[in-house]
Amino acid sequence: MMSVKFEIYVEDKDARFHCSEEQRLLHAMQAQGLGSIPVGCKGGGCGICRIQITQGEYETRKMSRTHVTEEDERHGIVLSCRVTPKSNLSLRLAPRPKETSESAA
Ligand code: FES
Repeated sequence: MMSVKFEIYVEDKDARFHCSEEQRLLHAMQAQGLGSIPVGCKGGGCGICRIQITQGEYETRKMSRTHVTEEDERHGIVLSCRVTPKSNLSLRLAPRPKETSESAA
């Protein structure tokens, strides 16, 4: 039986790749030779692959609260190395806000 391939659309880059429901988004993207989402540890530890899913259904593995807060999760923010799609998805990059002190801008 062939597994379903969903279409994943990266809004910021106007790029598309395919991902089955057994694959993590980040791994599928990389397997197709794309670099639309920044790749780091691929294991949920660094937070560099943070994205916001704007459309579609998905399932997440456990994610560190250091990288994705409960509030983030409510807004569809996830680590792309910890997410598998359940439908076609549309997403945008959601790099972590810089923890700088540029308060006097
Ligand atoms: S690549 Fe490090 S958390 Fe996803």
